[in-house]
Amino acid sequence: MAKKNWNVVVIGCGAMAKLHMKGIKATEGANLYGICDTHAERLETAKRELECELAIDNWKQFVEDPAVDAAVIVTPDQMHLEMTSAFLKAGKAVLCEKPMALTLEECEEMRRVEKETGGKLMIGQICRCTPSFALVKKMIDEGRLGELMFVESEYAHNYTLARGIGDWRVDPKRHAVIGGGCHPIDLLRWIAGNPTEVYAYGNHKSLLDWPTDDTTIAIMKFPNDVMGKVFVSTGCKRNYTMRSVFYGTKGTIICDNSNREIQLFENNDELGKKYHEDPQLIPVVVNNHNATEEIRNFMDALLNDKPMPVSSFEGAATVAVCCAAVESIAAGKPIQIRYPEEF
Ligand SMILES: NC(=O)c1ccc[n+]([C@@H]2O[C@H](COP(=O)([O-])OP(=O)(O)OC[C@H]3O[C@@H](n4cnc5c(N)ncnc54)[C@H](O)[C@@H]3O)[C@@H](O)[C@H]2O)c1
Repeated sequence: MAKKNWNVVVIGCGAMAKLHMKGIKATEGANLYGICDTHAERLETAKRELECELAIDNWKQFVEDPAVDAAVIVTPDQMHLEMTSAFLKAGKAVLCEKPMALTLEECEEMRRVEKETGGKLMIGQICRCTPSFALVKKMIDEGRLGELMFVESEYAHNYTLARGIGDWRVDPKRHAVIGGGCHPIDLLRWIAGNPTEVYAYGNHKSLLDWPTDDTTIAIMKFPNDVMGKVFVSTGCKRNYTMRSVFYGTKGTIICDNSNREIQLFENNDELGKKYHEDPQLIPVVVNNHNATEEIRNFMDALLNDKPMPVSSFEGAATVAVCCAAVESIAAGKPIQIRYPEEF
């Protein structure tokens, strides 16, 4: 029988972490037990804003604290492996931010610890909680578009001022296609399945003092002869967008996590029309960092002993595709994607 009330801690006190803290406070069965950050000012601000008494600067104290049931890891990507593994080994459930890690090998190490400890690990692929994308997934699963032919998603997000505390994003290991590209890649995988092959190109023109390409295009072969494309730009001069298009034999959807409407083009051959000239506009709530829904899903799995809604396999498979895209850019040829073992 699962526990009724879980003491949850949040490691990291950045903007995303605060959304998780709010989500915990808004979720039945979850108690924001404590928060942690090494940055004193951020810790103090979060402590005050979230009204959380227990605010510490050494995350290992929470690992050793028997009162802690679960941890949400919202620290730099490079720390996910060490922190997640330590909490799992101490018997705590973990929700780890995306990307799960920066290499497939690190993801596999996290999965090995999860398996050995029998722990519960969820990865925060937040696009699965974005209202527009969740609705699109439902419509496609219901067959509204017929058979998919082509899927595409773009991640355009200007990182010029988003280097992270201590510049952790400016790291040769953190290619833009992994750090940001994990969002559109996970979205396409969620909807169209695991691509088998990727061919990517990159260039480096905007963020010249960063060590990796800032613009990438990756084309992929998905199951069932579906083709796909992901565009990532972290140096673009525009507002944040994840414009995504899904082409099926019976219709097309154009959507974005930053728009209040989804555009749906449906084939109306049976009505004597070839197709609608104008799309149907379906209203959606804009909530592109829906951490409250993510926490609710995490807690639902813990409280009701269900499988994690975004498993470690899902998180690792997304990283596998991202890393294959990076490899393809370097090799100048298509790469067959190696996925983690399932268990
Ligand atoms: N799901 C999303 O859409 C989304 C959005 C933003 C960030 N993220 C992810 O969330 C994570 C954090 O990103 P961010 O934007 O909040 O970064 P950030 O740099 O703003 O915040 C990270 C925080 O971690 C703290 N920290 C560093 N080392 C620590 C340690 N040893 N112990 C405790 N705290 C420590 C830093 O002081 C900082 O406050 C990353 O993995 C990032 O990829 C996800």
